[in-house]
Amino acid sequence: MKKNRINKKTEAWTHYWTTAPPASSSCIPCAPVPVVELLQGIWADFFYNLPRNATLLDLGTGGGAVLRAAQTRRPDLQLTGVDSAEVLPDLGEEITMLPGVCLEDLPFDNESFDVVTSQFAVEYASLPQAASEIKRVLSKKGVFLLICHHVDSIIVHDNVKRLAAIKSLLAGSGLLNKVIDVVRQKKILQPKKQEYLARLLRTVQLKHPDQPIINEVAALTVSIMTGPDCMRKLLSLHRDIEMEERRISALKVSALQLSQAQNLRHQLSLSEIPIQCKAIYVPGTETPLAWYIHNEHGSPTIP
Ligand SMILES: C[S@@+](CC[C@H](N)C(=O)[O-])C[C@H]1O[C@@H](n2cnc3c(N)ncnc32)[C@H](O)[C@@H]1O
Repeated sequence: MKKNRINKKTEAWTHYWTTAPPASSSCIPCAPVPVVELLQGIWADFFYNLPRNATLLDLGTGGGAVLRAAQTRRPDLQLTGVDSAEVLPDLGEEITMLPGVCLEDLPFDNESFDVVTSQFAVEYASLPQAASEIKRVLSKKGVFLLICHHVDSIIVHDNVKRLAAIKSLLAGSGLLNKVIDVVRQKKILQPKKQEYLARLLRTVQLKHPDQPIINEVAALTVSIMTGPDCMRKLLSLHRDIEMEERRISALKVSALQLSQAQNLRHQLSLSEIPIQCKAIYVPGTETPLAWYIHNEHGSPTIP
């Protein structure tokens, strides 16, 4: 099996799946209910139409959100998930999870899957290579469904705002580094220093008034500074936030514009089977949630 070279993005996702609570299978754990319901509905319809015992490969599977949904609805499917993260949750014997696998370079024979899926993952990869690997590993009449981040989606919009707040917190002269400096100097927190840190906090609060992460980090910092093992905990908090910065930065550059989604659709063309590429919307809103890319008229043949 080919192992991915660990890069900064991979490290950030490895960190996420290593530290995510066992019950959380999704990369957007706080998604609003209508978003979750929309995605669940799409996958439920898709799984419903798959032939019995089909082999399904989920690309960039992460916590296995798509695979868990598939297993619940269609326990007959043979499920495999790959991800470039070095550590993935164990989903039990029935689901094969392969960490450290780059979706641009899949360790599978040609035409070895009836179905390929991906939710918010393919767009992080090199699109021409990802498309070429999907076509290679998919059986002749295989089907795929890819849900990709849309550049104008609420997920991207909210995360980009959160990213700005995170960048302020992580800046060299930002709150976190200044607190770490104070602790590193092993100085008792003099009133002057306290005032200085409070001013820093107010400045960042004013700059990002709608970002709860600022107050969450401030509260965590205070509780860490008043407890034992202060330096280690502060550095660990700094690392958690730095890893999130990398993940959101990657999301920001990976989310697809219309022309990119159409290019991907073009690169995925296999035969005369039409590929649907459309934006999907949360019901009752005019904001796109994601791209939906699906060779809908294909139907996998199972011997
Ligand atoms: C936003 S998460 C989506 C995870 C999961 N599909 C879900 O819906 O919850 C993106 C995932 O894609 C993975 N990923 C990013 N680039 C990749 C690549 N080139 N090859 C394989 N996996 C990749 C990341 O490690 C991460 O787990």
